[in-house]
Amino acid sequence: AGSGKFFVGGNWKCNGTKDSISKLVSDLNSAQLESDVDVVVAPPFLYIDQVKNSLTDRIEVSAQNCWTGKGGAFTGEIRAHYYAMIRYKLSSLLHAVGFTDFVTVTDGIRLLSKNLLAQTDSSVEQVKDLGCKWVILGHSERRHIIGENDEFIGKKAAYALSQGVGVIACIGELLQEREAGKTFDVCFQQLKAFAGSWDNVVVAYEPVWAIGTGKVATPEQAQEVHVAVRDWLTKNVSAEVASKTRIIYGGSVNGSNSSDLAKKEDIDGFLVGGASLKGPEFATIVNSVT
Ligand code: G3P
Repeated sequence: AGSGKFFVGGNWKCNGTKDSISKLVSDLNSAQLESDVDVVVAPPFLYIDQVKNSLTDRIEVSAQNCWTGKGGAFTGEIRAHYYAMIRYKLSSLLHAVGFTDFVTVTDGIRLLSKNLLAQTDSSVEQVKDLGCKWVILGHSERRHIIGENDEFIGKKAAYALSQGVGVIACIGELLQEREAGKTFDVCFQQLKAFAGSWDNVVVAYEPVWAIGTGKVATPEQAQEVHVAVRDWLTKNVSAEVASKTRIIYGGSVNGSNSSDLAKKEDIDGFLVGGASLKGPEFATIVNSVT
């Protein structure tokens, strides 16, 4: 680990149920975590509120994505979830006070929720509203499965940062790009999209071939790219930003390989997928800080 405070994020991806998440939260609440580590978990949007309401303040919460700017008519973005939540809450409230007439209730809900929605600024505002300090952007699953490109990711990052939400900025090459000797080019290209205010950015190097495959990068492979990223920051941003920015590694990190990786000077933490769904193992990874 380098000079910045060690940072360990758990990306739960699209996993969990109310029950499994409540078990995970209680395991995390009772875990002994090294004090000198920033610990963050990113639940699926639908469970952020549940997690925020039950998780110890010792651990911060991140969103897994956000919108590019002001919210609006963007079906399927998280606003839709918010809308459903408001409708559900209002409908329970109206029923509780005795309004059971169907037309009155549905019209009332439509009107009230429209007004409420007019006051919610954007999905980033919602992310903040739910108490999240961070958002993960540029994850390879969004780049390669959903088709997000650098321009789109850059807009989201700029907007999130402008609203005071920290960005966990993911970069990383595909196996064929590594084999073609293009790892640095790909990473630098992706880094450029995050240009802007670097104070609130953590860079997560996640080689795509290591994600969810059990094929972790060797400490040397990860260190090599982390050094290159730091050099890029020195040349393209500033020496100060380069030395302060945490560069964390993600891709098949688990409780057995994290301490060897953490020994490397430029590995300032981890972004953990699968192993973050197991509380005790995640705690071991957090505690691998050296
Ligand atoms: O964002 C974390 C990630 O993509 C790594 O996933 O399951 O390989 O730890 P995993």
